[in-house]
Amino acid sequence: MNEKIRKRPVILDGDPGHDDAIAWVLAATADEFDIRAITTVAGNQTLEKVTYNARRIAALLKLDIEVARGRNRPLCSDLIIAPNFHGETGLDGPALPEPDHELSSLSAPEMMAKVLQESEEKMTIISTGAQTNVAALLLSHPELKEMIEMVSTMGGGLRNGNWTSGAEFNILVDPEAAYTLIHSGVKLQMCGLDVTEKALVYPEDWERIRALNNPVARIVAEWFDFFFIHVKSLGWSGATTHDPCAVMSLLHPEIFDIRDYYVDVELNGKYMRGATIADYNGILGKEANCHCVVDLDREKFVDYLIQACAKFEGWEVNL
Ligand code: RIB
Ligand code: CA
Repeated sequence: MNEKIRKRPVILDGDPGHDDAIAWVLAATADEFDIRAITTVAGNQTLEKVTYNARRIAALLKLDIEVARGRNRPLCSDLIIAPNFHGETGLDGPALPEPDHELSSLSAPEMMAKVLQESEEKMTIISTGAQTNVAALLLSHPELKEMIEMVSTMGGGLRNGNWTSGAEFNILVDPEAAYTLIHSGVKLQMCGLDVTEKALVYPEDWERIRALNNPVARIVAEWFDFFFIHVKSLGWSGATTHDPCAVMSLLHPEIFDIRDYYVDVELNGKYMRGATIADYNGILGKEANCHCVVDLDREKFVDYLIQACAKFEGWEVNL
């Protein structure tokens, strides 16, 4: 019997950003997902740039969804951006279609609240940028927490950072937002650097994607080409494919190692602000508040990524 797949209603919130873009390609091909909203947050680049990128990605993927713009800066601190990784546009590299939907008149938190209020079932928020919008939603609509099945986020690192030695970029952009989320009581699955720095996609892997030779696969390969320029200069032999982990760990949890820990966010350290600290040995005596994704089967990760890109055979892209 062809059992109807129970679709998971999701909201994509990010700062595209090459790895956000690849994560959204993966999400768009997932039969299990029903993408209800796309929201943007400043981070990899300014809000204007990541929002324009999000709208172009939505057009590329033919998503019939309006993009809603989030906050242009973190809750409390000044914005930091990452043009060294993602370029001046935030998504340097291949040409993309122009947006084909108007920008929503709602803010990101308002859009999130709207789709949550209209939903008959709980929803999953896939957050691949600073958690500013998610925190703003939780602060302005605490009554909607019960409509959130979980937040799957790319952020943090239990053993190291990547922007400072202690802090990962998404958390460091907005530590107060991360603190708000992690103490909200909402179910949280965190793909930190512990797993995303093992989710290495090597040049020979994305050559397999390019060889699929469909319009979206070619674009994904060119996103890897660009993203790897700076990553390689830092000494990595493969592209640290961060954001797709926040999607893949929902679609194929069996290829990941997920541990439950109590995690907190350092807000005040002079050098460690934005660090995510895990109570590995339970010495704080607090209940675990985070499903920490700490490892994966890299080859299966890559295979699933390639399978997703193969679904765009015959896809028309109007540049
Ligand atoms: O530290 C990696 C994270 O920061 C990823 O989400 C990347 O897109 C940037 O936002
Ligand atoms: Ca991101």
